[in-house]
Amino acid sequence: MPVTIQQLIQWKQQGRSIVALTAWDYAIAQILDAAGVDLILVGDSMSVVLGYETTLPITLEEMLHHAKAVRRGVKRALMVVDLPFLTYQESPQQAIHSAGRALKETGAPAVKMEGGYPAMVETIARVVQAGIPVMGHVGLTPQSLHQLGLRQQGKTEEAQARILLEAIALEQAGAFSIVLEHIPADLALKITEKIRIPTIGIGAGSHCDGQVLVTSDILGLSEKQPPFAKVYTNLRETITKAVQDYAVQVRERKFPE
Ligand code: KIV
Repeated sequence: MPVTIQQLIQWKQQGRSIVALTAWDYAIAQILDAAGVDLILVGDSMSVVLGYETTLPITLEEMLHHAKAVRRGVKRALMVVDLPFLTYQESPQQAIHSAGRALKETGAPAVKMEGGYPAMVETIARVVQAGIPVMGHVGLTPQSLHQLGLRQQGKTEEAQARILLEAIALEQAGAFSIVLEHIPADLALKITEKIRIPTIGIGAGSHCDGQVLVTSDILGLSEKQPPFAKVYTNLRETITKAVQDYAVQVRERKFPE
């Protein structure tokens, strides 16, 4: 049975932790889906496979192209498509247009947008009213890199109060879930207890309703990982070894046998 938004909310109520990862292509999407990942995010962290230094250059066309490939690999997980920088911040109309394209052209049921109170609250409310499910994203928001940096957010009491307010406002605007990125664990706990929609943490401690990481980080494929990521295997080493073995066999005319 495909995972639904309603199911995520039920899992929060039941205390069943939600497993989320990113995918940017068909093969990885298929593997994650078959392995039982609940939520697959076509994140703009895709910048790492496109060779961009940040998430800012990604276009909606690039995102939709990859999201279509992911969609073909996903049977069970709830799929969410990130809206890239400046494809939704200009106005609610622009956000409805971009989010609508994501749903119509990829077949994904939901989108994610970064940012909180006050800028994104009206926009998210309008997109939800248009019938498009939205996941929010507060704390460290990489699309605001040049304002916030990539450091942990919510370090002062004032900043913590603002992030809590943002999460509450996004819930009221109709978001079905919120990513909490790189904030203190006790703030993530406070938010998770305060709102009824699931929180999905990344670098936000263990008290969120679920966890998300960037798949290339857990597989050891990224050139560098953020401090909160956990590397479960080192595919860079595995691939390098396989390629070197192949090269030796070709040069020594041992392959093909
Ligand atoms: O782009 C992404 O992969 C994300 C996750 C890190 C939450 O937004």
